[in-house]
Amino acid sequence: MPAVGCSTLVTCAFERLPVRSPADPEVVRDAVVAWDGATLTYAGPRSGWPDPVDEELTGRTIVPGFVDCHTHLPFFGWRDDEYEARLAGASYRDLHGEGGIPRSARMLAEASDEEVLEFCRPLAAEMLRHGTTALELKTGYGLSIEGELRQARLARRLAEELPQTATVTLLACHAVPEGTDRASWVEAVRTELIPAAVREGLADAVDVYVEDIAFSGEDLEAVAEVASTAGLPLRVHADQLGPSGATEAAVRLGARSVDHLNHVGEDGVAALVGGTTVGVLLPASTLMLRADPPPVDRMARGAALAVATDCNPGTSPVVSMPEAVALACSMYGLAPLDALVAATVNPAWVLGLHGRLGSLEPGKRADFVVLDTEEFRRVPYRPGHNPVVATFVGGRGSDW
Ligand code: NIG
Ligand code: FE
Repeated sequence: MPAVGCSTLVTCAFERLPVRSPADPEVVRDAVVAWDGATLTYAGPRSGWPDPVDEELTGRTIVPGFVDCHTHLPFFGWRDDEYEARLAGASYRDLHGEGGIPRSARMLAEASDEEVLEFCRPLAAEMLRHGTTALELKTGYGLSIEGELRQARLARRLAEELPQTATVTLLACHAVPEGTDRASWVEAVRTELIPAAVREGLADAVDVYVEDIAFSGEDLEAVAEVASTAGLPLRVHADQLGPSGATEAAVRLGARSVDHLNHVGEDGVAALVGGTTVGVLLPASTLMLRADPPPVDRMARGAALAVATDCNPGTSPVVSMPEAVALACSMYGLAPLDALVAATVNPAWVLGLHGRLGSLEPGKRADFVVLDTEEFRRVPYRPGHNPVVATFVGGRGSDW
């Protein structure tokens, strides 16, 4: 049974999930982490561990593996020319059509299954090197019944190959497919796509992009009804480019999370503070779109928060959770340890994986990260630096 000693340990173990901000997780100095096969057997003060340890990680901090609860993998191809066009004055909305989500849908359709997987594998490996031990995969670039099912199957294939745990979210309502209208597509998603995905076991959750260039509050309600009947948790891209009331609507519908939140209003913040829906912060997309930040100072007084990369070729070509944490602290003012909770146990709750992973407690998976510092705050303090010395997934580690 392997055991390691470390200078600092943050288990992110809490009685009740999701954890509301300010989270204030316990920091243990001089600690031991032990595991048996894939399962943790001990994570706590050295005084509670009777045996010698196999390795002494002096000057290191151990935290739970990062859980990236919002990515748009699998996708195919980058869109850096659109980034350059935005820097020259074009808006994300301007580019939607020739560029944007419809363009990624065309690129995905033109690539073979093997080409898509070849493109995604190195990105997942890069995530692992940055400490991500569980992640979400989404559809949303298929944009036809067959295209969405294909992307979901590719996501399941990728999930099987990866060392990380990965769930699949059906984001069929990401953009209105070319050649159809919004209402017909929503109806097809309700009556054909979700039932077909459920029959094949392809979806763990359903997401809807509520925006003026995408879907409405009524569309959200219509899709939520079918998702709920199918027993699939609801996720919502809410209030990203402009205010729409999506956050309040999503909380009312019992959504697991509302994501982005750049333009959430007072009612949305109040709904989050009063409910259990998690607010997922995606600061890398705020950075890359040079968008207004959400009112995180108000959310951080009572709402449950998560931080994720939003890894996608349009608004956030970012794979690193340490980078997302750094941006959440510097751009949104989140406290470093609050950001750690938002990057581990809360996103595990969003993905429905909290019974298995997300915190370091006996019986959970031995998914943990060794950081090159005694203080977690050094992670957001050094954006661009990878603080991960080793990533352990199910007790199996990369080299120190
Ligand atoms: O989370 N806003 C919608 N979806 C993505 C962007 C997708 C894309 O541009 O390809 C997001 O930012
Ligand atoms: Fe997204």
